[in-house]
Amino acid sequence: MEQKIYFDNGSTSWPKAPGVASSMSKLLESGAFNINRGNYEGAYELESQVLLTRMQLAKLFHAPDSRCVVFTPGITYSLNYLIKGLLKPGDHVLVSSLEHNAVMRPLEQLTLQNIHYTMIPAETDGTTHPESVTKLIRHNTKAVIMLHASNVCGTILPIREIGDICRRHHLFFAVDTAQSAGSVDIDMQKCNIDFLAFTGHKGLLGPQGIGGFLVSEALNHDLTPLIAGGTGSQSDSLLMPDHLPDKYESGTLNLPGIIGLHAALTYLEETGIPAIHQKKMDLTRHFLENIQAIPQAHIAGKKTLQDRLSVVSLDFPEYDNAQIAFALEQDYGIMTRVGLHCAPMAHQALHTMPQGTVRFAFSHFNTIEEIDHCIAGLRELFSV
Ligand code: ALA
Repeated sequence: MEQKIYFDNGSTSWPKAPGVASSMSKLLESGAFNINRGNYEGAYELESQVLLTRMQLAKLFHAPDSRCVVFTPGITYSLNYLIKGLLKPGDHVLVSSLEHNAVMRPLEQLTLQNIHYTMIPAETDGTTHPESVTKLIRHNTKAVIMLHASNVCGTILPIREIGDICRRHHLFFAVDTAQSAGSVDIDMQKCNIDFLAFTGHKGLLGPQGIGGFLVSEALNHDLTPLIAGGTGSQSDSLLMPDHLPDKYESGTLNLPGIIGLHAALTYLEETGIPAIHQKKMDLTRHFLENIQAIPQAHIAGKKTLQDRLSVVSLDFPEYDNAQIAFALEQDYGIMTRVGLHCAPMAHQALHTMPQGTVRFAFSHFNTIEEIDHCIAGLRELFSV
């Protein structure tokens, strides 16, 4: 099998944006200095590129100020920063029914400290109704924490409406944009988002190991930094600096990662997110239309293009999904992700527990021909 086709972009995107690898290798070869520490020209130059990257992220997510952009090693870290830095014994939060373990596991850890959560119900296609949120709010509810789009089935959740509810009820609103950032426009201010967690290596087309969050002024006030250490600022104090972003950025930043992300964001700006989204939706439409011809394949989640991303999960109820994924890879060179996708609650909601699904996640670098090759492979496997 010569041809290799990558449909595992929900896990991490590949290929990365043009310029990502070369910018990182150039930095490492020509002077990967530190910032906020060294007082020499190379360090200042790098510092201005980091600032530029913060500005790109603030613009991308419609944040008022680039100082609210904090870098972390990834979105799991960002969500832990939020969950463990904000919640106190006696607090309650609401989460969606489609959450990833990046939210569920830290929350489960905190149940031992008398911090509890309630899941907002979802339909079997992942649809979540904003009106179901209000009646779940308790006197001690502090925040709604939810993903923007499911990493299992691609369903987009109504963050605008839920953000409005949070504003009316004085709740913090935190959104995990792992799957949606770089795929659709996300407006932090219009959606009333207090904490927007992002990762650089999926739809933003950057390298692994770099992510972060954007934090509102109100939430920043109540958020304790989870990690403490050197920041290169206010070093005479044994307390963490109060100002952003230093309050949350202890230790040396992943500067090659930030430079790679800078190149990726520049590519996204030049290409345009609407064009990228359109291409992904064209591919998804083609896949969804053609998969109907294979009765053994059941789509988990939405069967239409409305309110979804280019992430499609298939269940083959009469078969072992792992064997289907294995055959696709071995016989047709198609790389997918099979199983529970670190999101058992989502599979529960979609009724694909415990068998999980075979997940196809398309990037705008994929082609219609690749989808046709995949469909032909599936048809051959099932003799239809
Ligand atoms: N959360 C990532 C995925 O869905 C890794 O595959």
